[in-house]
Amino acid sequence: MATNTHVQTLQVLEVVAETADAVSVILGVPDSLVRKFRYLPGQFLTVRVPNGEDSSVARCYSLSSSPHLDDNLIITVKRVPGGYASNWLCDNLRAGDLLTVLSPSGKFVPRSLHQDLLLVGAGSGATPLLSIAKSALIGGTATVYFYYANKTHDDVIFGSELEEILLEFPDRFTVFHRLDDHEGMPTVEGMAHAFRPFGKFDVYLCGPAKFMSAAQAAMRAAQVPLEHVHTEVFQSLAGDPFADIVIPPFEEGADSAEVTVELAGQTHTLAWPREVALLDVLLSKGIDAPYSCREGACSACACTLRSGEVQMRKNDTLVEADLAAGLTLACQAVPISDQIEIEFDQ
Ligand SMILES: Cc1cc2nc3c(=O)[nH]c(=O)nc-3n(C[C@H](O)[C@H](O)[C@H](O)COP(=O)(O)OP(=O)(O)OC[C@H]3O[C@@H](n4cnc5c(N)ncnc54)[C@H](O)[C@@H]3O)c2cc1C
Ligand code: FES
Repeated sequence: MATNTHVQTLQVLEVVAETADAVSVILGVPDSLVRKFRYLPGQFLTVRVPNGEDSSVARCYSLSSSPHLDDNLIITVKRVPGGYASNWLCDNLRAGDLLTVLSPSGKFVPRSLHQDLLLVGAGSGATPLLSIAKSALIGGTATVYFYYANKTHDDVIFGSELEEILLEFPDRFTVFHRLDDHEGMPTVEGMAHAFRPFGKFDVYLCGPAKFMSAAQAAMRAAQVPLEHVHTEVFQSLAGDPFADIVIPPFEEGADSAEVTVELAGQTHTLAWPREVALLDVLLSKGIDAPYSCREGACSACACTLRSGEVQMRKNDTLVEADLAAGLTLACQAVPISDQIEIEFDQ
């Protein structure tokens, strides 16, 4: 049995209405947890949302705050029609409430704050993009172009914050608001035309599934190299990372590879049975590896393959650019070669 040691409780300091159907939740971090809650722009928290008396569901929410600017953590939640957790959070959270969360994780993080960035988002997809934009402008030298699609002007989240950033960084920041009620739904051709000047920029893309596939097709049409395009897929977790997990027993003498894992400044060398996911091997040895969904959907367990070969059983989150950078998912990776080196560096 393993308990997720990344589980913590934070206090809600304020709930701010961003639009009619989106709120930002400002969370305080006590001094004792400051190290645990250090984060990189683009990362997310996993939140426990009560569901009846004894039960709960888990959902990921990206941080819209920037580690370079904001004192507190901020997540921004948009209602999904018919969705459980997003509506519960928007309807029920109040200042003073306690929220159970996992410490920040995820790989939707800019490679460099000095590399020029094209940010492409729709609706709540702007959440991690705002964190990335603020961080690159304050902590780096990058030029940032933000293509932001919404149905109407009233649906624009962070409108006034974006205006303030524009005033502060007029030479390095541009935001293009694309509104369906003015121009119709975004088309592949239209987006390709908009993206063409940014072929040499690193691209971060986040939004509803239909928008993302049209934007990806537009990147191809605009000949933006796919290894420059990083995506974050917003989907609900099926499992419960807050529950204790049972790791199926595996034989110590089973056919194994040898893996060297660097995690939190420590190096571990372990036998890695061929049939067992790396995350389960680490947790069974009491090693505090990060995880959330354990189903290949969230990237909380993303780590870098430094040498050797592994195979992922399932991958619903890493894209070509991540794979090209050597990322793999510890909850899905099994060994192929005999000697493997892995680093948890996010
Ligand atoms: C890394 C990451 C970051 C994220 N960041 C953000 C963020 O910053 N802001 C944000 O708002 N969201 C974010 N999300 C999405 C968020 O985690 C939730 O997926 C979202 O809030 C919807 O959750 P829900 O419980 O409200 O909806 P759910 O209850 O999960 O429902 C989702 C959809 O499925 C439908 N549905 C539900 N059950 C069924 C069923 N049995 N059969 C058919 N259809 C069904 C619902 O009608 C709804 O349309 C992120 C997700 C990930 C993975
Ligand atoms: S824990 Fe979510 S992808 Fe591995």
